[in-house]
Amino acid sequence: MNALLSSALQAAIREKFWYVSEDSRGMARIFFDSGAGSLVLKSAHAALERASRLSSYGGGDFPDSRWADEVVAEARAAVADLLNAPSPEQLFTGESATAILRRLAEAILPALPDRSRILISATDHNANVDPWRTTAASLPSKQLDVQLVRFDPKTGTMDLNHLESLADARVRVVAVSHASNVLGAENPLREIRHVLHRAAPEAWLIVDGVHFVPHGPVDVQSVGADAYVFSSYKIFAQRGLSWAYANEAILRLPHYKLTPAPERPPESWEWGFRNPADFAPILEVVEYLAWLGRQCFPTSIPGTPSDRRRWVRLGQQAIRQYEHELVRAMLDGVDGTPGLRALEGVTLYGAHEPEFDHLKEPTFSFNVVGCSSGEVVAWLWQRRRIAVRGGNHYAVETHRQLGVRESVRASLAHYNTVEEVRAFLQALAEFLAERTRG
Ligand SMILES: Cc1ncc(COP(=O)(O)O)c(C=O)c1O
Repeated sequence: MNALLSSALQAAIREKFWYVSEDSRGMARIFFDSGAGSLVLKSAHAALERASRLSSYGGGDFPDSRWADEVVAEARAAVADLLNAPSPEQLFTGESATAILRRLAEAILPALPDRSRILISATDHNANVDPWRTTAASLPSKQLDVQLVRFDPKTGTMDLNHLESLADARVRVVAVSHASNVLGAENPLREIRHVLHRAAPEAWLIVDGVHFVPHGPVDVQSVGADAYVFSSYKIFAQRGLSWAYANEAILRLPHYKLTPAPERPPESWEWGFRNPADFAPILEVVEYLAWLGRQCFPTSIPGTPSDRRRWVRLGQQAIRQYEHELVRAMLDGVDGTPGLRALEGVTLYGAHEPEFDHLKEPTFSFNVVGCSSGEVVAWLWQRRRIAVRGGNHYAVETHRQLGVRESVRASLAHYNTVEEVRAFLQALAEFLAERTRG
């Protein structure tokens, strides 16, 4: 058991989520598929239900409409605390990260000088690859040059040497994830920013934070992100609402909006009326992280119990520390049950040498020699009721560099336990033994 999370605290955390140990039909299962969408906090779900009773959209001068405006304003303030954004006014929403990243590319690329260079990353989900390629291709007269930066296979993070070799004064955009949804390792955003300061001082750093945000502290100011995008459904809230922080220069770029829509960001970036109820859950997520910070580090911020931003950060740190226990358990094994590093017949992708453990989120992609990912996924579910996922996880470039078309992905979150890890490892060992026996 992790020193931070007593068994009582861990039980309290699990109690706060829907479907931690049983699915919606009451079937006992182990949920290792958070990378596709996390479990939802009960409080976030309740907030959605409450706000769904709103009879009106915002902008009107009567109570329900003002309530809708309040829900949206509270959500923006909460997300500013979550990301350490300078102001809630620099946060806009869309229906998905996919849509928002496309919208950013469509605003940014036409504004760049001709022959600018755009760097994208082989660590990334296609949501942060395709919009840069397709939008650049739709502007042929600008002759934009889009280049893919490789990842280092030992760490699963952007290869900084390759970045340096491509970074020159023509580079105006670097689009990279905070963590790969396949390799599960944190990209070194500060180091990337450092390389850009020297070689490409005018480059904007556009970060896809979708996979990282449930796993650790995010500080858009200290990493020097010019835009940072994430989706509520990956961080303990519901589907249908994604968020972008953007710097003021990006927000001021010409962008598509209806003529009578507000001129002012962030609303000018939002298309049509957003459902105010969709905003309510993220406030509960942020309050939950602050609660976790207070539980794990009760004496850290004496005298400032209302400083939500700092408590949230401590909650995110607690998650990261605890998840490192899960990472070590998955890789090294639990009480004699061998871990992924030791399982013969398993090819594990990304960081798996102990010296790089600190880079990992508890996301593990692998293949079993001679098996499709679908076979492994089906066996684990049908025989052991363990939910993992197979396929390319919409990260085609990542798999292309790995030299495979698909992988099995076990993606955990802080509501998972070392006991669940042990059950998973035992099941995988059994699957391998069965395959060997034929
Ligand atoms: C790293 C990453 N980026 C982007 C996305 C796409 O997010 P959305 O479904 O909100 O478009 C995902 C979804 O799995 C993802 O894991």
